[in-house]
Amino acid sequence: MSDENGRGLKKGLTSYGDAGFSLFLRKAFIKGMGYSDDALDRPIIGIVDTASGFNACHANVPDLIEAVKRGVMLAGALPVPFPTISIHESFSHPTSMFLRNLMAMDTEEMIRAQPMDAVVLIGGCDKTVPAQLMGAASAGIPAIQLVTGPMLTGSHRGEKVGACTDCRRFWARHRAGEVDADEISDVNSQLVPGAGTCGVMGTASTMALVVEALGMMAPGGATPPAVSADRRRIAETSGALAVKMAASALTPDRIMTAAAFENALAVLLATGGSTNGIVHLAAMAGRMGLTLDLDAFDRMGRKVPVLVDLKPSGQHYMQDLHAAGGLATILRELKDLLHLDCLTVSGRTLGEEIDAAPSGWSQSIVAPVSAPHYPEGGMAVVRGNLAPGGAIVKQSAATPALMTHTGRAVVFSSIADMAERVDDPDLDVDADDILVLQNAGPKGAPGMPEAGYMPIPKKLAARGVKDMVRISDARMSGTASGTIVLHVTPESAEGGPLALVRTGDVIELDVPNRRLSLTVSEAELAKRRVDFSPPVHPGSNRGYKRLFLETVLQADKGCDFDFLVPPSGGSVPGD
Ligand code: FES
Ligand code: MG
Repeated sequence: MSDENGRGLKKGLTSYGDAGFSLFLRKAFIKGMGYSDDALDRPIIGIVDTASGFNACHANVPDLIEAVKRGVMLAGALPVPFPTISIHESFSHPTSMFLRNLMAMDTEEMIRAQPMDAVVLIGGCDKTVPAQLMGAASAGIPAIQLVTGPMLTGSHRGEKVGACTDCRRFWARHRAGEVDADEISDVNSQLVPGAGTCGVMGTASTMALVVEALGMMAPGGATPPAVSADRRRIAETSGALAVKMAASALTPDRIMTAAAFENALAVLLATGGSTNGIVHLAAMAGRMGLTLDLDAFDRMGRKVPVLVDLKPSGQHYMQDLHAAGGLATILRELKDLLHLDCLTVSGRTLGEEIDAAPSGWSQSIVAPVSAPHYPEGGMAVVRGNLAPGGAIVKQSAATPALMTHTGRAVVFSSIADMAERVDDPDLDVDADDILVLQNAGPKGAPGMPEAGYMPIPKKLAARGVKDMVRISDARMSGTASGTIVLHVTPESAEGGPLALVRTGDVIELDVPNRRLSLTVSEAELAKRRVDFSPPVHPGSNRGYKRLFLETVLQADKGCDFDFLVPPSGGSVPGD
């Protein structure tokens, strides 16, 4: 693209045959909003607006847009906000993951379609950040992520509470009869006390931290609370950085390199981050032509311990991590394991950013590598005849005694089947059994919902059973904990071995040795395979659901659509 046709409002002028006329029309319409020629003659910084009346996690987006605009204008460019779809976890039927790739496509195409020299991506709720970066990576113009930031904690009868680890804890206690109807109604008003993303190490916090480590966020941008002045200052900085990035053509391919993804994976492990993080990082890396190597990730996990004491693996909340110095405090501890020469959106290296970040006070949220919160990384990858393509266990949030466990399978054939039977007093189940859920993977549900955190059957919960081994091809919320094996690949709807498990089969889980085995003979499995038929989903013959079912990749590939992923040019992490 020539200079003459390549910047600001002149970018990508092809619509009306003659470039002069196209620009003339563009200008006529945008002038309808009151801009001067001086404003329109500047670089344009797009700002992605993902506010919605359904999205409390993004309730502060209007304020952040104002602050980003200020940063853009102080740096001499023109800020132009534009909307994309908005995805909130609780308002995305059948599951937010079903919509992530739609948002990635929306983001990519709107960045391509409209004239902008760089883009600030504002989002925060779980699927939004990966969707935006997948889209921006494919669009290829300079992009910077700004998260909405974590919500503050609430207070319930003298106890600090926050979404959504405490949502689960209170609901489990309610199911067990320990919390009555009045109290559960009271706590419901305190769990999400204001704007922002879940304040524990759920998927939103995990993605914020790994994206800062990846270099795609303003330094210090992961942890400031949604309602804080720090959050607005980060927004202003992000606007100013976007202008610099446009001038220096600092495109995502210069930042999202294999080495940068290794830094992000190290942070995923060290934070005890959400298991969803591995799916999203696989998808983001996939957009850069990189394949995520689960076995190498597991080996990395033997070297990178969990340092961060946040729920659900630990005790604290994101506001506490922010007060402890945020990501820089974690990175400083991991320094020997990181690629410090990776470039970030600031134009400086990650190592330079770590050195520049404030430090030197005592804090108890991020442990030193010499005395970690958990000796290995938060996640382990298990394999075996039940999961030939691998499965994930969040070992830092599991019950140590269940990490090596042999038990009888109690199988639910779908989420609906589980919902119908799990609380049946006649369900034949004991605490030593292993709950198995089928057809909850990418194509199974569809959309790989967060159903992997299967409820403890009511009659066992009432007896005080807090954890059981649970196995599925589903995902789990990053805010949940338990001895839960997730992302079993290939999924049951694809005819994976998980589809062949029957109640009464014996399953062996051995996390220390990374094994997951079904002790059923190959001959018997072959017999069962003959009877396999994939689930049929109503409404799947048209529209987005059809596109999803026909093209979604398995969990180990990040559940992206096959046609959006360029050919692989390498794998991450390296050894
Ligand atoms: Fe949006 Fe938890 S629901 S971050
Ligand atoms: Mg979540």
